[in-house]
Parts: sequence; C-alpha cells; structure tokens
Amino acid sequence: TDTVTYDPGFMNTANARSAITYIDGDNGILRYRGYPIDELAQKSSFLEVAYLLIYGELPTSDELAAWDQNIRSHTMLHEDIKAFFDGFPRNAHPMAVLSSAVSALSTFYEDSLDPFDEEQVHISTIRLMSKVPVLAAYAYKKSIGQPFLYPDNSLNLTENFLRLTFGVPTSPFELDQDMVDALDMLLILHADHEQNCSTSTVRLVGSSHANIFGSISAGINALFGPLHGGANEAVLNMLDQIQDEGVSPEDFMDKVKNKESGIRLMGFGHRVYKNYDPRARIVKSTAEKILNKLGSNDPRLEIAMRLEERALNDDYFIERKLYPNVDFYTGLIYSAMGFPPRMFTPLFALGRLPGWIAQWREMITDQETKIGRPRQVYVGEDLRHYPNAK
Ligand code: CMC
Repeated sequence: TDTVTYDPGFMNTANARSAITYIDGDNGILRYRGYPIDELAQKSSFLEVAYLLIYGELPTSDELAAWDQNIRSHTMLHEDIKAFFDGFPRNAHPMAVLSSAVSALSTFYEDSLDPFDEEQVHISTIRLMSKVPVLAAYAYKKSIGQPFLYPDNSLNLTENFLRLTFGVPTSPFELDQDMVDALDMLLILHADHEQNCSTSTVRLVGSSHANIFGSISAGINALFGPLHGGANEAVLNMLDQIQDEGVSPEDFMDKVKNKESGIRLMGFGHRVYKNYDPRARIVKSTAEKILNKLGSNDPRLEIAMRLEERALNDDYFIERKLYPNVDFYTGLIYSAMGFPPRMFTPLFALGRLPGWIAQWREMITDQETKIGRPRQVYVGEDLRHYPNAK
C-alpha cells in the first residue's frame, strides 16, 4: 500500500489513453477527433458527429448515407419490450426507465453481446443508436400516459425522436425544421466529453468484459445524478423556484455563497473547465434565437441571464473559476421545445450515446486496458478479536 496514491474523485489519475476528445479546460477548448466543437455544431449533423466519434474520421457522403440508412432500419423494437414499460409506476422518472430498458436490451439481443467479436460490436452499435431514441421517447410517453407510436423509417434519428415524443396516433405530425436543427445541434454539443463520470462508468463496467448494453445502462444511471447530467433538470427547477417564490437573483446568490445553505448555483462550475465552457457559449447564443423563433417569451431566460451576469462579476465565483457550463441554458431551450424538465437528462443521454459507444469500443480494443480496480486507503480498526467464546 506504500505505493498507493490517495486521489478522491480521480482528480489527477488518468485511467485511459484516448484519441477521441481533447479538452483544454484552462482555455475553454473542446475538440472531437481534432475538430473544434463550434465548427461541428455549425456545420455538421448529429449523425455525422456520431460516426466521427465512433470511427475516428468524418464519413464520406456514401458512408454517411449508409450509416443513416442502417440506423433508420433498426429502429423497430421487439414487441415484448413494450410490455416491459407496463411494469413501471405511472410517474416513473423517464431516466430510470431508460437505463432499465437499455439494460434489458441485452436480453433481447443475445446474439450481439460478445465484446471481442467485431461484427457483434458493430451490430450492437447500430442497435443502440437506433433503439435508444425510441426507448427515450417511449419512457416519456409512459410518463404522460400516451400511446406509443411506431418509428417512421423515412425520418432520420433526430426527426424520428421528435415525432415519437410529440406525435400522437390520431393526427399527422408536422416537424418544425427549426426545432429539428436546434435539437440536432444540442445533441452534437453533448456527444462526448472525455472521461466524465458517466463515460468513466461505461469504461469501468466494460473493463470487466460486461456487454455494451449493460455498460451503457450503467452510464445512464451515472448521468442521472444532479451533479452530472441531472444538472439541466436542476437548473430549471432552480429557475422555477426563484420565479415562484419571487426571490431576487441577488438574494439567491447570497444564499449560494453562504456555504451553510448547501445550495449550489446549478449549471455553474466544472471539474475540467476553469474558463467559460465553449459549449455554454454556443448554447447561450442560440438560446435567445431559438426561444424567439419558437415564440416563447420565457421570463426564466431573464432570470438566468441576471444570475450569470451577477456570478461572472462576483469574487466568490471569480476566485473559484466558476463559469456557466453546458447545462445552464439548455433547459430553457428544451422547455421552449415542449419537453418537461424530466426529459432533459434523457436528452443528454441521447446526445452522449455515441461518445459512450466510442469510448467503450476504444477501451475494449486497447491492449493496455485492465479491469478497473481502484485501490483504497484503509482507515478502519486494527486487528481486534471477537470477545465471547461460544
Ligand atoms: N455553486 C456554488 N459553489 C460552487 C459551485 C456551484 N455551482 N460549484 C463549485 N462550487 C464551489 C465549491 O463549493 C467549492 O468551494 P470551496 O473551495 O470553498 O469548498 C469550489 O467551488 C470547488 O468545487 P468542487 O465541488 O470541489 O469542484 P468539483 O470539480 O468537485 O465539482 C461540479 C464540479 C460540476 C460537480 C460542481 O461545480 C457543481 O456541483 N456544479 C453544479 C452542478 C452542475 O452544474 N453540474 C453539471 C456539470 S457539467 C455537465 C456534466 O458534466 O454533466
């Protein structure tokens, strides 16, 4: 144990060599496979970025068309998976339902579970990309008691997801192109973020050679936490509370700065970014635009902007290098699109899916991967003896 380094939260321990995502937290830089996030957000599509993350290069137009087609043609779920949703209480959180459903996929697709069979990993990759959006939409439908729709393979992943979420069987569904474009862009921004809590979880579970469905289900549960993906839901709950209680943003900030309150400014701070999160910059610039386009005059945007301005000029936040992260403004956009707060984290999961898949595949093919097994510093009792004889 002399050689063991105590490093809670793995603040300074690299568990992987990775060629997928580059972050320079001090300078607010994020790149996927070398491409700056803002270029991808402006010029690419979620499907193309997913391909880039998973296979390492941008696809040719033929490769992209084949990838898109492949994903469209695997959207159908086994009918029995639908029965699975009946077992949950009506008000089940869609994130808990989603992680359970993704774990359950391994029981339906036992023919693609071998982590060392390239063909099986390929088919699992397609199955996950195709079916997770459907499961996320069904988790939502379940939570509001509406019937499930069958996917429509004339639509791409993002379009299909919106239709499955907001469509009803009794009337035709019209896609709003602004909404499709905005959601597609937000999915790109969430697609990977190197060794964050959920991705490290996916790698750690996978390092035991557990199958990819189970590994990603574990990642979804990690993402559920309010300090990670659950922050986007927590931000909106915070803005709601400030609005409902009529608290001024200034008074709220005083509460945040008083450590005893235990209240954090949700959507602020990041383990790696000690500068403005480049994703937050993109989201902020689109939040206003999209909110206007969708005709939403949400007073919570004003509250969020006042909180941000206040924080950026406050010594507490400046000293600790706390800046808005990707989640600070996304909830407002999702809300304007019609998603309830409970769907925000499943949306994050949908975006992060290609990153998890890419990282799992990189982990499983890296010769240096070992089963994840951190050490500990034992602080319990020394040897002592059981007192009573029998
Ligand atoms: N509000 C108020 N104080 C904060 C906040 C915040 N949001 N974040 C950090 N601090 C303070 C913290 O109390 C500590 O102060 P001190 O040094 O006086 O004890 C200092 O800043 C450093 O914080 P930390 O908790 O040691 O930093 P960390 O790297 O362990 O935590 C974090 C990073 C993201 C968990 C944290 O900043 C946080 O809880 N933020 C709010 C939740 C949130 O927005 N999460 C989304 C993260 S981005 C998307 C994702 O990855 O899922």
